[in-house]
Amino acid sequence: MREQYRTAEFVEADLAADPMEQFARWFAQAADSDAIVEPNAMVVSTATPDGRPSSRTVLLKHYDGRGFVFFTNYDSRKGMELETNPHVSLLFPWHPVARQVLVTGTASRVGRDETAAYFRTRPHGSQLGAWASEQSSVIASRAELLARYEDLAARYPEDEQVPVPPHWGGFRVVPGTVEFWQGHENRLHDRLRYVREGGAWRVERLAP
Ligand SMILES: Cc1cc2nc3c(=O)[nH]c(=O)nc-3n(C[C@H](O)[C@H](O)[C@H](O)COP(=O)(O)O)c2cc1C
Repeated sequence: MREQYRTAEFVEADLAADPMEQFARWFAQAADSDAIVEPNAMVVSTATPDGRPSSRTVLLKHYDGRGFVFFTNYDSRKGMELETNPHVSLLFPWHPVARQVLVTGTASRVGRDETAAYFRTRPHGSQLGAWASEQSSVIASRAELLARYEDLAARYPEDEQVPVPPHWGGFRVVPGTVEFWQGHENRLHDRLRYVREGGAWRVERLAP
């Protein structure tokens, strides 16, 4: 299970001045690759204040110069961990193109307006799902979950607006470092990392 990656070199001169612009380039290429099913699926790692880590996949829903945005349940494990320890890492595992992007940074809640605007774009069923599930809590059975969903579906039929759950919303991750990893033959991979320094970005190359 050892792949030799036949890819073009990735050198400093190829980099955009800003990591979010560089991310946009790679994201567009990942989205163009038929082999990557969900290029916006990323692994979000959080930790308790005493440093016990946990990871899970979530979908990147928006990115711009301010950072990376995902939506979740604020009372979930990740939500609670981020409340007490905002340090977070994101990993985009774009294996079919021998690339990964690694972000470290801090997360904070997006405004309620931003959450509401996104919630309105979700399908009715997903809106109900956000209410039905106390994400990360232990439940007795799948039947319990379905019963909650059916109750909500009766209360809010298709033509009725579902209110935004107060426990649900977005986090924006403001990056402190962003590493672009390109795999090559003989394990001579390229690793170029942007590091935030005040208002500017420094780029450094890491050993593979
Ligand atoms: C491809 C994929 C996409 C997912 N997207 C999200 C998402 O955008 N938001 C979310 O809260 N959970 C998402 N999940 C579920 C999470 O992985 C996780 O089970 C859930 O958020 C609870 O995590 P926690 O208990 O660690 O807080 C996704 C799972 C997969 C496999």
